[in-house]
Amino acid sequence: MKRIILLLIAAVLFVGCGKLTTIQSPDNSLSVSFRLADDGRAEYSVARDGAPVIDWSALGMQCAEADLTREFTLRGVDSRFNQQTWETVWGEEREINDTHNEMTVHLRHSTGVEMDIIFRAFDDGFAFRYSFSEQETKRLTVLDEASEYRFVADHEAWSIPWRTEYYEGLWTKAPLSDKTDTMCSPITIEMQDGTYAFVHEAALRNYPAQNLHVQDGALRIYLTPWLDDKAQPLPDKAYIPVPFPTPWRMVILARDLRQMVASRIMLNLNPPCRIEDTSWIKPMKFMGIWWGMHIKAMTWEQGPKHGATTANMERYMRFAKEHGIDAVLAEGWNKGWEDWQHFSFTEPYDDWDMDYLSNLAQELGVEIVGHNETGGNAADYESVLDEAYAYHQQHGIHAIKTGYVSPIIRTVDGLQWNKGQSGVRHYRKVIETAAKYHIMIDNHEPVMPTGLQRTWPNLMTQEGVRGQEWNAWSTDGGSPCEHVTVLPFTRIMAGPVDYTPGVFKFENPVIPGTRVHSTLMNQLGLFVCFYSPLQMVCDLPEHYMEHQDAFRFIEEVPCDWERSMLVEGKIGDFCVFARLGRGTDNWYIGGITDEEAREVRVPLSMLDEGEYSLTLWADDEGADWQTRPYAYTVTERKVTNADTLTIRMAAGGGFAATVK
Ligand code: NOJ
Repeated sequence: MKRIILLLIAAVLFVGCGKLTTIQSPDNSLSVSFRLADDGRAEYSVARDGAPVIDWSALGMQCAEADLTREFTLRGVDSRFNQQTWETVWGEEREINDTHNEMTVHLRHSTGVEMDIIFRAFDDGFAFRYSFSEQETKRLTVLDEASEYRFVADHEAWSIPWRTEYYEGLWTKAPLSDKTDTMCSPITIEMQDGTYAFVHEAALRNYPAQNLHVQDGALRIYLTPWLDDKAQPLPDKAYIPVPFPTPWRMVILARDLRQMVASRIMLNLNPPCRIEDTSWIKPMKFMGIWWGMHIKAMTWEQGPKHGATTANMERYMRFAKEHGIDAVLAEGWNKGWEDWQHFSFTEPYDDWDMDYLSNLAQELGVEIVGHNETGGNAADYESVLDEAYAYHQQHGIHAIKTGYVSPIIRTVDGLQWNKGQSGVRHYRKVIETAAKYHIMIDNHEPVMPTGLQRTWPNLMTQEGVRGQEWNAWSTDGGSPCEHVTVLPFTRIMAGPVDYTPGVFKFENPVIPGTRVHSTLMNQLGLFVCFYSPLQMVCDLPEHYMEHQDAFRFIEEVPCDWERSMLVEGKIGDFCVFARLGRGTDNWYIGGITDEEAREVRVPLSMLDEGEYSLTLWADDEGADWQTRPYAYTVTERKVTNADTLTIRMAAGGGFAATVK
């Protein structure tokens, strides 16, 4: 049931020199203050429980038309209280509560430009955005955003450098003052008092993605620039039509990791769903003709090892049917893989019978997940979007994985960074066009998610992560065990991730030395710890058949949830999540650890009264990701909400449990 209370509060407190105004979070723990300095500079600060968290920090933007960082006068301030509960189409929980206080500061610049700054204070964080309403100025060229976060101490932060291709890097932790490289957004900050901050943006639309850098002791925004015709950065960052609201600058301020992971500020800052009939949007688990290419057992292009043949796809689809997996992805079904440049999205290779396979899909009740790799040629893709999606729709395909393998993509505006303004526009166009054809999108090489899936819930999942595939071919041997224990608190905080869990065979005969740094149980744990409403089951059918009793967990685990919670965790060490399957009474619990073995205690207090059947898949004694990755046990017993499980995870290990 939706409940909306919108209260306009006319009275706003001005104190001191008449230029300071504050809003509190609904529980009064956080306060966000705004002031105009003597030279008309706009600044804000944030305190929690009366203690400063963010000192006076700059606001505004430099535009070619006006330096909107100073010479402001105050025209007025409004504030309002908002309380609302909305229902997700899919998600980590069914219902999301949005309770916040909002304050809009109306400013006039010496040039006459009128700019509003809208602040929102939540119990678990705050956000602000700039908004330009209808006025004489019709267009602004943003050269830089002055927005900054002046944290009161030199906290440690987890980040990846901003030039990391496709965000596919290993996250590192260091004091903010040591972060000499500009960083990608988001970053996760471990504050000196043991609390956490997550700094990101929400509702990115027709604007470049933010990056973050440390300068003069403050964390500052660096907007992704436009590139010139030689692919060199221009001073211009964004061309904005007025009226225009910028994306939200947001910070989750959480007392512990549980609260951080449970924060829904980012989704709340995005507009409500724009798709009227969402009945065609369905979370799914999918297998794929995919891992075979990454371990070089198959090829994308036609040839003796071609993966996406009719016969191979039929084999995968029949396997999926037998094991309750909803869908199968096929990469390399279409022409163009010889040069990764000139892809067709409507012409299959001649060993792929689309009509036969789409009929088979219908007969079996197994979906086909289409694949549109663009090689970074977004402009060409955009020019055939309608045709491509109509083709997929005609063949009963309701989900497409898109790809942009090229560090700089070719947009309708020439060569541009994918996270620049032009790239951001392209991805939005893809989502909106796909919605017209009832197609869900799994976006690889994306711009970092910012909560767009609330408005367009056909944007199911995205990559933007150093995913499983690196464990197949990375010359550094594969991601260290720690990597997966960092992601739930960093990248995945920004939105669902197509990491592609579920490898069941770790040795890689093609690239000796490269392997998945995990035990089999760690792979199971990922299905609960990593949230994605299109969740890949990434390995080959024959590998799953070698461990059928472990595969049973993957068959059973859903990817859409009624409720979700972090049971326990430490960034870069381990995590345990518990989730209640949507529309069921069944809980799923998963844990993963880094290179250290550890024992975790999981109280079952989340269960209702009564007796449940627990099945636990756990690392066996002596299991170890390097020496005995396949050693596990499957045990069953009865439990109640008074029980606490004690589970040992091996080095690089993990566990999974169903509680029904
Ligand atoms: C990179 C993607 O991340 C991967 O999943 C895909 O298989 C290849 N590109 C080919 O599109």
